Amino acid sequence: MEALRERVSDDHEYLRDDGAFVFHHPPKYLWERSPDTIDRELIWQDYHLYIHVPFCRKICTFCTFERRQLHRGAIDWFVELLDREMDLYQNQDRFDLAKIQSVYLGGGTASLLSNDHIAHILKRLRAEFGLRGEETEITLESEPGTKKPADLQVIRKLGVNRISIGAQAFDDAQLKLLNRSHSVQQTLDMITAAKQAGFDNLHIDVMYGLPGQTMARWQETVRRTIDLEPTHISAYPLIVFPGELLDRSLEKNTLPGRPDKETINEMREYATAEFKAAGLFRYSTAEFARPGKECRYVQSTWDSSDYLGFGPGAYSRHGHLLWEDDVIHPAYERKIQSGEKPLGKRYEMAPEQQLQRDIAMGLCLLEIDIDELQKKAGCVFENEFLETYGQLEEQGLLDREGSRVFLTEKGVRYATYVMKCFTTQ
Ligand SMILES: C[S@@+](CC[C@H](N)C(=O)[O-])C[C@H]1O[C@@H](n2cnc3c(N)ncnc32)[C@H](O)[C@@H]1O
Ligand code: SF4
Repeated sequence: MEALRERVSDDHEYLRDDGAFVFHHPPKYLWERSPDTIDRELIWQDYHLYIHVPFCRKICTFCTFERRQLHRGAIDWFVELLDREMDLYQNQDRFDLAKIQSVYLGGGTASLLSNDHIAHILKRLRAEFGLRGEETEITLESEPGTKKPADLQVIRKLGVNRISIGAQAFDDAQLKLLNRSHSVQQTLDMITAAKQAGFDNLHIDVMYGLPGQTMARWQETVRRTIDLEPTHISAYPLIVFPGELLDRSLEKNTLPGRPDKETINEMREYATAEFKAAGLFRYSTAEFARPGKECRYVQSTWDSSDYLGFGPGAYSRHGHLLWEDDVIHPAYERKIQSGEKPLGKRYEMAPEQQLQRDIAMGLCLLEIDIDELQKKAGCVFENEFLETYGQLEEQGLLDREGSRVFLTEKGVRYATYVMKCFTTQ
């Protein structure tokens, strides 16, 4: 692990102040469309399953998830290809020992799937992919206004036991500014209907650092979110991706400005304290849950678990192998129709790279066990690594108890910087 040390900055001015910036390690620019070592029989055992529905009714200004404008027939097109993709994995990989630990129907907008689509998908997961028992976490990610109360009743009975609702804000003007396609009332109605349908595991997404958002507005969002009594809250600091629509609008001053960095930090601290007082504890840089209600799927994306993703742009990991499904819809379709897995970019990690990934990304869950990760990657620390740890500890960003290393409160603010210090690429 050469040159880890060079990444540590002595000057706090240079610490990146973006606590929940999502990144991949090894970085995506290194992933390739070959070699094809991934395209072979894989044996799935304990793993998590993700389905990416890549369509939305409207495109929100801030979002860069793989999503396209919904059009007539889009969801049927998607589900038909998803079925073929599942066939391809059934033909090539082994699922006889498989046990799904969690299912996440996400997107885009997964709640655009019809009840029949959801029934069909779950039936296949149970029959062929190792989904067993009532207890396995099954989440439907939903945009307010996309499901009627009666649909939610049906979906709950099908076995979906967790619902994630993208509230974002409780202010219609703010929602409009973000180009959301729902109102605050629709958010409230969906939450009420979900509770009535028996969803007692309720996840709400909200965002801070939004254009025009004041501290007072954020405090109101936090209070109203708590009042809805969710079991899980994701509170995301807005990430403005350079060159994207939101970035351009902010540049052109066609949107009100964003709060400054100090205010954004205060927003995070305020929410963390209020959620904690309400019994929702932080378990990742942006996620809060009642004890025992942490999202298993969210954890799997950071904690070195295996996960299998279906749908354009969905990510998968099997041990040291990483890949994403082709993000280009025609290419995704063409590959599937010609009987190939729709693989896009992929990466085969060397043991050191795997260790770096699992340390860096694992810190998103605030804490890692170094011994465990070394064992899993099959390689050990270099001295330089310990030096990096020492410097970050001196800066007050990390702490340690035995083999457990964790982010301090300050470390959460500078989480991306800390994570990147543990990577050489
Ligand atoms: C796939 S979306 C959620 C489901 C549904 N499509 C919706 O919007 O209601 C996942 C979540 O990521 C968050 N998100 C999306 N883009 C973001 C950005 N640029 N910065 C911070 N959070 C973002 C939003 O809170 C959003 O609810
Ligand atoms: S509805 Fe959700 S996935 Fe779609 S553009 Fe908006 S935030 Fe992104």
